[in-house]
Amino acid sequence: MSDHDQVKMTKMNYGKARPKAKNPIKIEDLTLRDGHQSIFATRGRTEDMIPVAEMMDEVGFWAVEVWGGATFDTMHRFLNEDPWERIRTLKRYFKKTPLSMLLRGQNLVGYRNYPDDVARTFVERAVANGMDIFRTFDALNDYRNFDAVVPVIKDNGKHFQGCMCYSLTEPRMGGDVYTIDYYVGKAKELEKMGADTICVKDMAGLIAPYDAYELIKALKAAVKAPIHLHSHFTSGMSSMSHLKAIEAGVDIIDTCMAPYAYRTSHAAVEPLVMTLLGTNRDTGFDIELLVKINEKLEKEILPKYKHLLDDSKVSITDTNVLLHQTPGGMLSNLVNQLREMDALDRIDEVYRELPRVRKELGQIPLVTPTSQIVGIQTVNNVLFDDEKERYKMITAQVKDLCYGLYGKTAVPIDPEVQKKALKGYERGEEPITGRAAEVLEPELDNAKKETEGLAVDIDDVLIYALYPLTGKRFLNWKYGKEEPPPEVRAKTLDEALAEEALIKKARAGLLVEKEKKKEAPPKGENLRTFNVFVDDDYFEVGVEAVDGEPVISYVHQTPAATPEPVGPVTPEPPQPVAPAAPAPAAPTAPEPPKQIAPEPAPVAAGVEGTPLLAPMPGMIVSYQKQVGDSVNEGETVVVLEAMKMENALPSPVSGTVKSINFSSGDSVAKNDVLCIIG
Ligand code: CO
Repeated sequence: MSDHDQVKMTKMNYGKARPKAKNPIKIEDLTLRDGHQSIFATRGRTEDMIPVAEMMDEVGFWAVEVWGGATFDTMHRFLNEDPWERIRTLKRYFKKTPLSMLLRGQNLVGYRNYPDDVARTFVERAVANGMDIFRTFDALNDYRNFDAVVPVIKDNGKHFQGCMCYSLTEPRMGGDVYTIDYYVGKAKELEKMGADTICVKDMAGLIAPYDAYELIKALKAAVKAPIHLHSHFTSGMSSMSHLKAIEAGVDIIDTCMAPYAYRTSHAAVEPLVMTLLGTNRDTGFDIELLVKINEKLEKEILPKYKHLLDDSKVSITDTNVLLHQTPGGMLSNLVNQLREMDALDRIDEVYRELPRVRKELGQIPLVTPTSQIVGIQTVNNVLFDDEKERYKMITAQVKDLCYGLYGKTAVPIDPEVQKKALKGYERGEEPITGRAAEVLEPELDNAKKETEGLAVDIDDVLIYALYPLTGKRFLNWKYGKEEPPPEVRAKTLDEALAEEALIKKARAGLLVEKEKKKEAPPKGENLRTFNVFVDDDYFEVGVEAVDGEPVISYVHQTPAATPEPVGPVTPEPPQPVAPAAPAPAAPTAPEPPKQIAPEPAPVAAGVEGTPLLAPMPGMIVSYQKQVGDSVNEGETVVVLEAMKMENALPSPVSGTVKSINFSSGDSVAKNDVLCIIG
């Protein structure tokens, strides 16, 4: 059979009642998971999936991906939604179409390897709640990380789809790591493990059409399991790759509904339906139904999310991705985080440093969580390293990777980086070579104990086991023990449309500014002046009480004429300030002095010493030291979660912890004083 025989036209009537194709291409729709994850940071709410779910159930998709990946994290963290409830809800609307989830192997739906007890229970609960297809991958393609979850999937009679993460070290397939032989070898491993289907997971949209053709041909010849192609549009190649893969005999293709398609998401389904119409691979889908679904998404759903779309560029393709092999989700995360840190201008440096960090960390594929690990370490290197020293701030996750906790890297990790990362590492300085989860202590019983009185069922416990800090906060919201903050509330369509109208008006120059900026009041006699040092900057801050509340009267930033190191801060001796002024952060009062000035936060009056400043915005995981503890320079004092990575913050000096200004779970801004060491 020649290649041209693979896709054939059949003489037919193009009307609605077209005959069923001999070998229709199967389509998995990703709109409700990878679609919104790629385009608007996984913020899609269940209530915005329901209006299209029944119509989507009629299309004839092989499966719909609706869960897993980043959804579990964003739902409980940002949307105040119970992740488990989404499966149960959607299951009521998708009566015919199997539900599919993205499972990150032993990482489940988090960013680290969880112990076997958590992994097995998580999969059991996903099955019980209604999941049918488990698209399972490991970021390092180390399938020892499937050993815990796959037997649970198979024993429950569910579909195990084994993935191989598609990665490159050069512009096209080849080189000395990611070759056809490499992927064929991986596919055979997956088949041996009982994979019902095998997926080429091209998360960054790197697969070129002719490479897709060669690869699918080779895989079809090597294994019996149907082959599935998942290729993001990011670089602009995926619709071409889809077509070449179909010519090579691929069985299943991933697409999104048009409004959730393209950019860093996936190619749209509609053009593919039309492309294959009347061939032996015809999808058989009703294009009119697809258009109806699109209209609903476009008019009733997407206006609520428009503000999340990246409108910083006009182009819908990212040619840069071909050079730095960065998955779409990782790109938008890096951009967001750099923006939050006022360092967006350094994105080009980040792109330059990234391949170097990746190579040093074992030339690993870039996919969650390795994309985060490599990405954040790269940002840390760009922001904190100098000519004398690289890897000044190594994240906890890079240390884990160097120890072997994520599995075996494609090539060995740079020995110098590995040695530096493992210096003083809690599990030991010698890396392991066995299956990562074997060294992990069970965690589920502890999680049960720690959520006693709060968690109602095992699903609650798992939310906590996977995400202790934000998981506990969510459970408190869920059971009315804490008021959820306004930012987790859903936006209504009316609110969204009103906002959009306002923006349009402003853009057209029709918005008149009503009020001029308030004039500063004259300085009063109760004004007190503070000196605040932040890195090399020095601020003189005037604080005066008005109606019992201290307010910032002025802030002068003095260009560092004398470039001092992060120096000992000696604020004025404490004097009685206005009544009702917040107490200076005493050792026992963890409340940050945020009311006075969000950034930079003034240091606690009356405490002398060197402040440890938050190098980036984030959430306090824990303080490793208590007030009164002595600490050596370089020793970890605080663990700060930023960009989903845990950063161990070292003490800038040796001394005693004089004050601690926050507690576990607090959000901090860049340059907040986390503690003072004197
Ligand atoms: Co994807």
